[in-house]
Amino acid sequence: MSAIALGADHAGFPLKEDLKVWLIEQGYEVVDCGTQSSDSVDYPDYAAAVAGTVTAGKAARGVLVCGTGIGMAIAANKVPGIRAAACTDAYTARLSREHNDANVLTLGARVTAREAAVEILATWLGAEFAGGRHARRVEKLAELDRARGKPHAPAR
Ligand code: RB5
Repeated sequence: MSAIALGADHAGFPLKEDLKVWLIEQGYEVVDCGTQSSDSVDYPDYAAAVAGTVTAGKAARGVLVCGTGIGMAIAANKVPGIRAAACTDAYTARLSREHNDANVLTLGARVTAREAAVEILATWLGAEFAGGRHARRVEKLAELDRARGKPHAPAR
């Protein structure tokens, strides 16, 4: 089974530890990118570590936890090749895989309870990209990555 890169800031640390145990119980190899305590840290550092682990091919997918899931998603999505989805329920988690081919899931420990987080994660890991018309759209996301830093293209 492929590895999952896991990361959190101080707000997400306790939930990250719970999810790590759950992932290992399910048979996943976990690459723990930190943080390793509830001492205050900056979420972009951990988003970058998990995103880099995924884009380097050292993990198939990544999971990031902060207070809301929002900061981690914003930060991870700045890394070319990362499609991070902040999910608060199993439905959006499934669709983020089927439609968006999300390769990073972000969760908010202050807005999502442990049981719900496990359900979201299990759903997300179990869902596959649907391809078809969604593949064309995901390719356009890759185009946006390639165009980063270049003049903005007009709407088509
Ligand atoms: C930390 O207080 C908090 O801002 C962070 O965990 C996250 O929620 C940011 O999006």
